[in-house]
Amino acid sequence: MDSTKINYLQAMGIQAWQLKQAVSSLSACQDEPSDTDWQTLRTTVMHCTACGLDKTRTQPVFGVGNINADLMVIGEAPGFNEDQQGEPFVGRAGQLLTAMLQAIGFERDCVYIANILKCRPPNNRDPLPAEVDLCTPFLEKQIALVQPKLLLAVGRIAAHFLLNSKASLGQLRNQVHVYGRHQTPLIVTYHPAYLLRNPVDKSKAFQDLQSVCRMLQTT
Ligand code: URA
Repeated sequence: MDSTKINYLQAMGIQAWQLKQAVSSLSACQDEPSDTDWQTLRTTVMHCTACGLDKTRTQPVFGVGNINADLMVIGEAPGFNEDQQGEPFVGRAGQLLTAMLQAIGFERDCVYIANILKCRPPNNRDPLPAEVDLCTPFLEKQIALVQPKLLLAVGRIAAHFLLNSKASLGQLRNQVHVYGRHQTPLIVTYHPAYLLRNPVDKSKAFQDLQSVCRMLQTT
């Protein structure tokens, strides 16, 4: 009720009843992520020093894209270019990922892209288990905020964390897994950096991406 109406009612001696909570606070009950949720998460990531990688990286790489995306792509960790630019998948592997997404009709900015680790490990070494443990709550929160219809894990490190599995990539491909409490469908494919080294497997990755397309058409 606006203040003019309240003044009229008060002048008439009528008690105007109002909800104590502002409408904006109702969004908390509706499970709708707010800008504040994203800002809080981003600030926490940008200031995180928990695993020690802050000592060697240039900047954290939070994630990028459409926060309401149907498709969320999850990689391993920032490399040299990502560390410099503060955005995931912008180097050669990133260009291939962008082309792979375009091949199934997705522009890069339609999807949300994030990594298991937010900071670059020195010399692009594999993430250490302790780093994964400390950093992945941020990714879990990003997934919870985006609420994608489908997750695409690119590469072994992302697939192993999201599926809590140690199976080979070959074993994890060609099936639809589920992730988390919302049982979000999840597909595994090759990491684009692997595909740059092994272009012969690009056709298999294309098959995986066609599965992504089919899944999104039916969900
Ligand atoms: N490889 C990844 O897994 N993530 C990036 O952001 C870049 C390269």
